[in-house]
Amino acid sequence: MSILQPGKKVALCSDHAGYELKRTIIEYLNGRGIATEDFGTDSADSCDYPDFAHPCALAVENGSDYPGIAMCGTGNGIAMTLNKHQGIRAALCWDTDLARLAREHNNANVLVLPARFIPADKALEIVDTFLNTEFEGGRHERRIEKIPVK
Ligand code: RB5
Repeated sequence: MSILQPGKKVALCSDHAGYELKRTIIEYLNGRGIATEDFGTDSADSCDYPDFAHPCALAVENGSDYPGIAMCGTGNGIAMTLNKHQGIRAALCWDTDLARLAREHNNANVLVLPARFIPADKALEIVDTFLNTEFEGGRHERRIEKIPVK
């Protein structure tokens, strides 16, 4: 089942290392009628991933967009930044099983991709899995409720 919500766009962000993959994903989603909001970066010129991760995280956190998809070279820097936001559960996924479990068990609201370590066709499979897997709830609900720092 799709996790897309009516009236909400998918939020995307990347640094220079993820720029090309982000363009590919936006084209893929828009071609399927899925609306996106791109928080940058806007070129392959060297830049700093937090400048784009924070605004993207805020949009998902405040509910104006859902879900998010983020990428940098390894995925680590952008995931670290996104996860500083209490309302964000960003999951670094390099295969479809990880994406499925990030949704089923962690209710991840941002998918993070390691752009320099996976081919584009694999990334699109991971995106499809993430966008079409629901949270299982139950015991996992209790666990994710304990994640934010109180
Ligand atoms: C950029 O060279 C690279 O450091 C960045 O994309 C990312 O991998 C950081 O975590």
